[in-house]
Amino acid sequence: MALKQEFNSIDAEFYQPAETFFTAQRGTALTYDDVTLATLYSEILPRDTQLDIQLAEGLNLNIPVISADMDTVTEARMAIAMALNGGLGLIHYNMPDKQQLSELSRVKNHVHGLIQDPIKVAPEQLIGEVLDMIEKRRFDFSTFPVVGADGQLAGLLSGHVVKPRYARRKVAEAMTPRNQVHTIKQNELGANPIARADKFFTDHPGIHKLLVVDEEDHLRGLFTMSDVERITQERSAQFKLARDARFRLVCGAAVSATRNAFGDLDRDRILSHVGALVERGVDLVAVSTAHGYSKGVGDTVRMLRDAFPHLPLLAGNVTSAAGVEFLADCGANAIKVGQGPGSICTTRIVAGVGIPQLTALYTCSRAAQGKHVAIVADGGITKSGDIVKALTLAHAVICGGLFAGCPEAPGQMMEIGGKLYKQYRGMGSLAAMKAGSAARYGQPATITQKVAPEGVEALKEVSPTTDRILAQLIGGIQSGMGYLGAINLAQLREKARYIRVSSAGMREAAPHDVVEVKTGS
Ligand code: XMP
Repeated sequence: MALKQEFNSIDAEFYQPAETFFTAQRGTALTYDDVTLATLYSEILPRDTQLDIQLAEGLNLNIPVISADMDTVTEARMAIAMALNGGLGLIHYNMPDKQQLSELSRVKNHVHGLIQDPIKVAPEQLIGEVLDMIEKRRFDFSTFPVVGADGQLAGLLSGHVVKPRYARRKVAEAMTPRNQVHTIKQNELGANPIARADKFFTDHPGIHKLLVVDEEDHLRGLFTMSDVERITQERSAQFKLARDARFRLVCGAAVSATRNAFGDLDRDRILSHVGALVERGVDLVAVSTAHGYSKGVGDTVRMLRDAFPHLPLLAGNVTSAAGVEFLADCGANAIKVGQGPGSICTTRIVAGVGIPQLTALYTCSRAAQGKHVAIVADGGITKSGDIVKALTLAHAVICGGLFAGCPEAPGQMMEIGGKLYKQYRGMGSLAAMKAGSAARYGQPATITQKVAPEGVEALKEVSPTTDRILAQLIGGIQSGMGYLGAINLAQLREKARYIRVSSAGMREAAPHDVVEVKTGS
C-alpha cells in the first residue's frame, strides 16, 4: 500500500532509486552535497525510528555511528562516550601496542557510573594541602577516599571537614574512619552495578558515596549518588548502550598491515598483538589503511580470519566494487569506503586518486550486497544530512572531524585569538606518520621529509561533549528517516530516491538572505 502512495508517475520520472539514478549519472562522481533525497509518504514519527545495525555476527550497535581511528579522535575516553551512546569507537594505532591494549582495557573495564580511579588523599596529609589541591586542579568536589601507603582504604574525608578552619589538622584526624565507611566488594557488584549502587543509596538515606573495594580492601572505585541518579534517569533514553555479551561496553581497535625490516608483512607481531586484543575482549579489529585493495591488506585480513575465525573484521579503505569483493573474499565482515573525502585528507590532491563519496558508496554497496558484508562510509561527513544520505547506501558511518573538538578527544585545548581549539590531524600528515601511522600510507616506518604527506595538521574549534554532538546527529538521522517514512535503516536503504542538486539549489538549502543570530546547533 505504502509504495503506491509514495510516488505517482510524475515523481518517478524525477526522483529515482539508487540503481537508476547512479547508473544514469555514471561518468560523474558525486558526493553528499551533489544530491538530495525526495520526501515520501510517511506514517513514521522521527522519534519512533530504529537505528540499530549489525556490523558482523555478534556485533550490534544501537546507532550507526563510529568514531575514527585517528590519534586526535579516538582513545579510551572517546570510545567510552561512543559506546555509552550506542555507537562504537575505534582506538587508533599511533601508539605502542602495549598502550593500545591498556586503552582497550579501560573501555572494557569501564563500569558506567563507577569512578574507577578516584582522586585519593593520604592520612598524613594536612587538610590545608587538600584545599590547595582542590584549588590548583579546580575540582568541583571535596570528598575524598583516604588510602594508606599499603594501598588499603583508611577512611573517607568528607567535604564537611575540608575547610580552611581545619587546615592544620591531618586528614587522619578529620576523616570518617574505615569501620564507618560504606563499602561494597567489587565481586558483589553483579551484572548491573548501577542498579546495585542505586539500591544501596535508597537503602541508606543520607549516604551519598559508596566505595568499591577488593578482597584486600584496596580501593577499586567510587559511586556517587548524583552520578547514579543521572544515569538512572537517562535509562529511559531511546538509544541503549552498546554492550557485548558480558555486559561490557563495546570497543574496536585499529591495526595496520605493518612490515618488518625485510619489507615482509610482520605476521608475528600482527598476530600476537591481535591475539592480545582478543584476550582483552576487543569487539572489532579494523585493518585500517589508505589502500585496502592491495596485497598487504588482503594478506593481513586473510591471516587474521584464519587465526580468529569469529572475530569481527573491518577492512579498508576502498572505493570500488572489486575492492569490496576482494576484502570480503579475504574474510572481512565489513568494509570501509572512502579515499580522500576526509576533512584533513589531501590524497586526491597529492596522489590524484580517490572517488567522491556517494558514487564510491554506490558501487561498493552493490558489491557488498552480493557478498553479504556491511559497508561503512568513512570520511567527509560534516552534517547530519550527510549521514542520512550515506546511510541510504551504507550500514554505518565513521566520523573524525565531527568529534575532534569534543572534550573526549585526545589532546589539549589551546586558545588562539580568544577562541578555544583542539588539534586535528590526518593520519597521513607528516607529524602523524612520524608518530607511527606511516604503514597506513604504505610508507617506511622511518619517515623523512621526502615522503609526500596525504593529510594536513589542522585545528578544530572546541565543541560540546560527544553526547551532545551525537544527540544532534541522531536527531537529524531520525528526521531524515521520518521524511522518507523509514522505520529502520533497512527501509531507508530501500526507499531512498535521489535527484541531483544544482549549485543554486545548494545555496538554497542553507540559510540565506537573513542575518543569522543563532545557529541551529
Ligand atoms: P572526516 O571528514 O570525518 O574524515 O574528518 C575522517 C577520515 O579521514 C581519513 N583520514 C585520512 N585520509 N589522509 C587521507 O587521505 C589523511 O591524512 C587521513 N587521516 C584520516 C580516515 O579514513 C578517517 O576516518
